[in-house]
Amino acid sequence: MSVPRFDKSVSMFCAMIAFGFLINGHECKVVQFIFGDSLSDVGNNNNLAKSLAQASLPWYGIDFGNGLPNGRFSNGRTVADIIGDRMGLARPPAFLDPSLDEDVILQNGVNFASGGGGILNETGSLFIQRFGMYKQIELFRGTQELVRAKIGDAEADKFFQGARYVVALGSNDFINNYLMPVYSDSWTYSDDSFNQYLFRTLEHQLTVLHGLGARKLMVFGLGPMGCIPLQRVLSSSGECQERTNNLALKFNEGASKTVANLSNHLPNATFKFGDAYDVVNDLIKNPNKYGFNNSDSPCCAFGRIRPALTCVPASTLCKDRSKYVFWDEYHPSDSANQLIANELIKKLGFEPVNQTSSSSPSPSGNN
Ligand SMILES: *[C@@H]1O[C@H](CO)[C@@H](O)[C@H](O)[C@H]1NC(C)=O
Ligand SMILES: *[C@@H]1O[C@H](CO)[C@@H](O)[C@H](O)[C@H]1NC(C)=O
Ligand SMILES: *[C@@H]1O[C@H](CO)[C@@H](O)[C@H](O)[C@H]1NC(C)=O
Ligand SMILES: *[C@@H]1O[C@H](CO)[C@@H](O)[C@H](O)[C@H]1NC(C)=O
Ligand SMILES: *[C@@H]1O[C@H](CO)[C@@H](O)[C@H](O)[C@H]1NC(C)=O
Repeated sequence: MSVPRFDKSVSMFCAMIAFGFLINGHECKVVQFIFGDSLSDVGNNNNLAKSLAQASLPWYGIDFGNGLPNGRFSNGRTVADIIGDRMGLARPPAFLDPSLDEDVILQNGVNFASGGGGILNETGSLFIQRFGMYKQIELFRGTQELVRAKIGDAEADKFFQGARYVVALGSNDFINNYLMPVYSDSWTYSDDSFNQYLFRTLEHQLTVLHGLGARKLMVFGLGPMGCIPLQRVLSSSGECQERTNNLALKFNEGASKTVANLSNHLPNATFKFGDAYDVVNDLIKNPNKYGFNNSDSPCCAFGRIRPALTCVPASTLCKDRSKYVFWDEYHPSDSANQLIANELIKKLGFEPVNQTSSSSPSPSGNN
């Protein structure tokens, strides 16, 4: 494995800054590039005027910063927020954040995640506007051109190879594609052939990212998505959808192999896969064990009308948000995200990234 050698080259590169060498006046910094769906979106969809998947209304964001909606599909932080914080990395702004420019990118990275997006281009088309993974990669290419024009190819290569990459998609490929009869994939594929199609596509996408410089990359697997409140209301008993959960387990198994294989074959790649399926499944079955009180309904709900697709200003909130596993019909609460992040950190063994410059606080505020 090339991990230690890689670490050293990054820290040497950054150490030059400590002695005052700046690349055209830019400090070297390890930043993150995040690719994902609503579980990682920090504001892209709120800037997509026609998107039907937005977290732009109260009570989204109620436990984050000033409490106003900020684009996150949660009451608080995303899993990627929590893991990045733990590693000592800046929280990257949304690609569509109006303040994004080359300096912001060099200091903070970029978050391309978009609610409704999937591994497949066709996923989430009912939301009208969203960035699928290929679109996110295309936007990342554009970002690279901006940075190359600013600091030159040699430094840009170092910058992009030293960065951390997060890829967290897949739920929508099932929930908002394969499992919905309005999508042609639902009658074109079987459970197995659809998962194979996802692995081939993901393999290609990760290979493209490697070609663009990604060396340290982690892929987050899926949770028991048959237990999100939206899936439960589909059954008369209110139980989890077993078939949906099995699809998630199969996805995790295959995607984990795909990622491990790429990590072995692509030069200097340290690609890791981690999922929190088991712990979330246990949390859903035994919420009390983890200090939670509800694991089957959304904290933010519109009266007894279920499913309400999103949390809206007229919704009522549960009494104690920290005790609910789910914030809305689809998405975990801040406290569930904390548990998921802890599990991923345990599995993937993160170490804090040593930064030579910590002068730039996250643009996303505290929390
Ligand atoms: C997916 O969409 C991208 C544009 O975002 C396009 O370049 C690519 O050809 C599409 N791929 C497939 C398989 O349709
Ligand atoms: C492993 O990755 C290599 C390089 O990308 C690829 O050629 C090969 O088909 C992959 N093997 C499997 C079993 O996925
Ligand atoms: C892999 O790392 C070595 C040592 O840092 C470097 O010389 C080589 O160019 C790298 N190769 C790729 C494809 O990144
Ligand atoms: C949640 O708390 C209420 C009141 O303390 C209790 O009646 C209920 O059984 C609890 N539910 C769960 C799932 O723990
Ligand atoms: C990071 O910093 C710690 C403490 O300052 C040091 O012990 C460790 O070796 C450093 N790691 C790297 C990869 O430079």
